[in-house]
Parts: sequence; structure tokens; C-alpha cells
Amino acid sequence: MTTSRLNFPQGLLAGQVAIITGAAQGIGAETARVFSREGCKVAVADLDQAKASAVVEAIKAEGGDAIAVAGDVTKNDYIDLLVQKTAEFGNGQIHIIVNNAGYAWDDPIEKIQDKQWDTIISLHNTAPFKLVRAAAPYFMVEDGKDRCIINISSTSGVYGNAGQASYALAKAGVIGLTKTIALEWGPRFGVRANTVAFGPIKTRLTTAPEGEFVVRPDGTKHAVGFHHGYDEPEKWIGDIPLRRIGTPQDAAKAILATASPLFSYVTGQTIMVSGGRGGM
Ligand SMILES: NC(=O)c1ccc[n+]([C@@H]2O[C@H](COP(=O)([O-])OP(=O)(O)OC[C@H]3O[C@@H](n4cnc5c(N)ncnc54)[C@H](O)[C@@H]3O)[C@@H](O)[C@H]2O)c1
Repeated sequence: MTTSRLNFPQGLLAGQVAIITGAAQGIGAETARVFSREGCKVAVADLDQAKASAVVEAIKAEGGDAIAVAGDVTKNDYIDLLVQKTAEFGNGQIHIIVNNAGYAWDDPIEKIQDKQWDTIISLHNTAPFKLVRAAAPYFMVEDGKDRCIINISSTSGVYGNAGQASYALAKAGVIGLTKTIALEWGPRFGVRANTVAFGPIKTRLTTAPEGEFVVRPDGTKHAVGFHHGYDEPEKWIGDIPLRRIGTPQDAAKAILATASPLFSYVTGQTIMVSGGRGGM
């Protein structure tokens, strides 16, 4: 059998339905937009209702279809609601989950408080697990359709990073979750699961100006922008073979590639999207 011409006139993800967490801005929002342009219906899941709704409106303005489901992925009720609303929106189908919501709450090991630790593990590990578990009925299906889970990691999870013990552990943890999903749901249901691990990407997470916060579920604020911006890129790009900071577009294209039929025989892998940083 030969490979047919690799064009997908209806889009790489035509007819599919995706949940993308943390999709109100940054990497998740760009992923929602590129998925939509490739024919996918998208549930934009995020803490930030106003920004999630703006992403949905922009997608609809381009002729795509999306819904905003606002809430906190660390809350059980929200996970159930997200799966239920997406399944309704998708006429009973969900094909893709991108576990992307997250931020870092950094300190050196000796200063990390239990609350800091628990928050980061709950956000990056427990929440993705619970979302995948809640969506199991939509993935454990033998109908021959493409389905995949993508968990977002970081070079910190693969190589470690001084000052990021909780984040590094959590981002390493999703790699084990990914491989286990691939092993459990691949043989019978054909579900692919891959991790996409980013190096530095220019988003609010890394570049927020002084004074920008994530509001935690308990109402307290957490400062973001831990690198005080990449506005002096020469300080950061010395160990990056491509000698530039990545963009949300670079990140979203890699997630799209991983979700697409071009990666139909790729599962259980950690795709490094880091400009080559950290080793090749
Ligand atoms: N930007 C980078 O350099 C970089 C590098 C490696 C990995 N990552 C990872 O990529 C993912 C996206 O990061 P980004 O840079 O786009 O950040 P971002 O801050 O621009 O966007 C993250 C989104 O996640 C949402 N979010 C946070 N906590 C949430 C919760 N409890 N429930 C629902 N939504 C929540 C935020 O509201 C925000 O909209 C994260 O998992 C991050 O750890 C980013």
C-alpha cells in the first residue's frame, strides 16, 4: 500500500472534538486556534472565563466551532462538568485531550512550603489523571477512529531545573502517566498518548510584567513571569541550538503535529520542543 498524497482538504483534525485545558491564553489558546483551523471542535477550558470566552469568539469569527467551559481543573466537580459539556458539544464524542493548564510556583528546595508543593502536584499530575479517567468512556471505544491524549511537560521535567523541584517532579510525572495511557488504551482502542515537553516559550507564564498574577482557587494571588520576561533574549538563548525563544505558534504547531494523523504510529513518546535545548 502506498501513502496517499498528504493533503487533508478538510483539515488534519476534521470531525474531531478536543478538550484543551489552560486554553484562554498562551500555548493553549494558540493550540485551540490551530486545532479549529484544522477542522476540530474545541472545548476551551480555563480558570479565566473572560479570556476563554474571547478565544471562543475569535474561533467562531473565523468560522470554527468552540465552547468555553470555565473552571478549575483541580476541582472534581469541574472535571465532570468539562467532560459532560464537551460530550454534549461533540454529539457524544471526544477524541483529543490536551492537558496543558498550569503554572510554576518556584522556590529552592529548602524554602518550598507544603501548600506550594501540593498545589503544583495537584495541578500538573492529579488534574490530568482525573480528566483522563473521567473521559475514559469516550476513549475506551472500538470504532477505529483516531483518539489521542497529549500531556504537556517541560525541559524542567526531563532534565530538572534548579529552583523548580515541585514543577520538575510534576512535569516528569506526566511522562509516566502518558506512557501508562499508551500501554493501557493502545492495544484494544488504538488510543495514542504522547507528552510534548517545551523549552522556553514566550507566554505570560514566562514573560508577564511585574505585577501580573494567577488567582488561585482560594482567591490568593500567585505572581507569574518567573523569568521577568525574555526581553533580554541573549541571556537565555546561549544553550539553545536554534538561538531563539520559542513562540506560542511553535508550541501549538508541535501539539497539532502530535495530535494529527501524520503521527499515527507515534505513541508513548516525549516530543522535545525546545529548539534543541538540553541535549539531542
Ligand atoms: N511558557 C513556557 O516557557 C513553558 C515551558 C514549558 C512548559 N510550559 C507549560 O505549558 C503549559 C501552558 O503554559 P503557558 O506558557 O501557555 O502559560 P499561560 O500562563 O500563558 O497559560 C496557562 C493557562 O492555564 C490556566 N490555568 C492555570 N491554572 C489553572 C487551573 N487550575 N484550572 C484551569 N486553568 C488553569 C491559566 O488561567 C492560563 O490561561 C503549562 O502546563 C506550562 O507549565 C510552558
